[in-house]
Amino acid sequence: MPTYVTTPIYYVNAQPHLGHAYTTIITDTYSRFRRLAGDQVRFQTGTDEHGEKIAEAAAKAGDSPRDYVDRIAATFKATWPLLNVRPDHIIRTTDSEHIRTVQHILDQVHQQGDIYFSEYAGLYCRGCERFLTDKELVEGKCPDHLVEPEPIAEQNYFFRMSKYQDWLIEHIKQNPEFITPERYRNEVLAFLDEPLEDLCISRPTSRLTWGIPLPFDSNFVTYVWFDALINYLTGIGYPDGPLFAKYWSVAEHVIAKDILKPHAIYWPTMLKSMGLAPFKRLHVHGYWNVDATKMSKSLGNVIRPRELAEEYGVDPMRYFLLREMSFGLDASFSSAAIITRQNADLANDLGNLFSRSLTMIGKYTQGRVPSLDIAALDSDDREVQEALHNMVATYEIEMNAFRFHKALQAVWEVISLLNRYIVTNAPWELAKDVSKQERLHNVLAILGGSLWMLAVVLKPVMPETAAKMAKALGMEEPFDAAELAQLGDWARLPPSSGLGEVLQLFPRMDKKKEPVVEKAVAGKPAKKSIEEQSGLIELAQFQAVELRVAQINAAQRVKKSDRLLKLSLSTPEKRTVVAGIAQSYSPEELIGKKVVIAANLKPAKLMGIVSEGMVLAAKEPLEDGSERLRLLFVDPDMSPGSKIS
Ligand code: MSP
Repeated sequence: MPTYVTTPIYYVNAQPHLGHAYTTIITDTYSRFRRLAGDQVRFQTGTDEHGEKIAEAAAKAGDSPRDYVDRIAATFKATWPLLNVRPDHIIRTTDSEHIRTVQHILDQVHQQGDIYFSEYAGLYCRGCERFLTDKELVEGKCPDHLVEPEPIAEQNYFFRMSKYQDWLIEHIKQNPEFITPERYRNEVLAFLDEPLEDLCISRPTSRLTWGIPLPFDSNFVTYVWFDALINYLTGIGYPDGPLFAKYWSVAEHVIAKDILKPHAIYWPTMLKSMGLAPFKRLHVHGYWNVDATKMSKSLGNVIRPRELAEEYGVDPMRYFLLREMSFGLDASFSSAAIITRQNADLANDLGNLFSRSLTMIGKYTQGRVPSLDIAALDSDDREVQEALHNMVATYEIEMNAFRFHKALQAVWEVISLLNRYIVTNAPWELAKDVSKQERLHNVLAILGGSLWMLAVVLKPVMPETAAKMAKALGMEEPFDAAELAQLGDWARLPPSSGLGEVLQLFPRMDKKKEPVVEKAVAGKPAKKSIEEQSGLIELAQFQAVELRVAQINAAQRVKKSDRLLKLSLSTPEKRTVVAGIAQSYSPEELIGKKVVIAANLKPAKLMGIVSEGMVLAAKEPLEDGSERLRLLFVDPDMSPGSKIS
């Protein structure tokens, strides 16, 4: 089966950062996973090099746009091997082949009447490089770039996007997997509830020259999004290359939520107008924050993938990113979080299982994983076999759905089971008893075989570690092509040719190391204690938060917000708290309920209302990748104001 998977093409107005690395690593992982399942895979990434933003960045750097884009595109290209990311093709929108394809498509869409010339006046955000609708503004500003858009009126070419609105709604409704996780599908459908405007697809050369000239009017260049999205076709030789015939019908795009609209609305309607089938799936992930704050150059907390890989190692970094983020939701990066995962999941759980097992195989079975005597399996062995079987099934489902965190959770359940299996079966005791040698062999065969299977499923995530594991086990048999399908079959385990050098897979991370995050903050390394780095706090720090029982006397929706409720509470004195729970609770169901609040927070203004505290709630992850907030209700008998400690 063919698989075609793409990342966004990244703007070259900035150096690669954690966000770019994340999308590209998950796409790499998915493509390695599909290869393991026997697919012929094409994985494409690239750079988006036209448009105002790039022209401005070049001017700021004192470079010609051409030299500038060459330089930054090269740093993106050089980053991927450092992260063990292996794309099959790296496209640039300044490639002559791409320029030809864009012009060919523009001509085609123009000739069939889907492009027209008109005057437009609207509010333009330079950061987004598009006109924003009133509805998209928050307090008059672009919510992503926090600046007021400029009023611009000019003549331009427009793509008749509105013509395809009904078709698009129907297509999304008919194909539940077209946009996932579901929260983003719902977001797009909600957006499509309103009439869709046509898309402005040109910029006058009086304002911008760094773009692809419109083939039918040299006074204009192509709008950067119309140009950029087409990369997914150019990269496989549209319109008539063999790769296009093979891969287009299975195209899957991976993006973050910031560019949902161009991918979920502009792109399918453009394809429809060209007479092409839409892509197969769009996978949308959330945003990485850093220490729970937005990552931004001005805050000086931008994480560079190269530094991360150097500090923590490529495989631990890949594992952390995939395990820590619930696909679809935002996640927070911190040195403490990555060190904790490295020590707990990798060094402790997997690393110890591996080194204990190999040391015992080395000692008790002459340095070779013994073959399994299937007739002699006992109930413990069968439990392991069954767990491995279930793991492979879950792993396939979750990896296919881009829920990497769940796939890895399933793998780690087996790792824990195997660690318990060692304790219950105590091979060191069996070794002392000559009558138990057969049992000893089977226990070590189960451990060796399971480790090999773990290496196979970990290969897409941590390719270097998987290879090290297989080598150390002396089981380097065909590792690719449809290996996954036979993975649960113990009769198919490759024989061990003898153990290689027994390595420590993961060193424990020294928490005293200067963490990458702090290093990035304005060049000032913050001196943090070991406890702080590990996320532990002093009792006094916890006690500094005043938690109290509060009764909800009244609740109402906050105007113009679909997230906020205004709550009138008594603790027993009256206070107002604004809580982001409107999507989880109706105001009516809250009246009279008792909740827990953080009572000594500095007041904050939300949508013009002063909020005097915070209501505590748990975030419950749902199957579809979204999450629901659940308030912490307390016993109705408790008196408002009671202090919680
Ligand atoms: N050039 C456009 C995309 C055109 S695709 C036809 C663009 N480029 S970008 O450089 O801004 O990259 C945006 C993408 O980078 C996001 O969709 C996501 O894949 C990744 N990320 C950038 N910042 C991110 C985080 N903070 N967290 C996670 N990923 C983010 O938009």
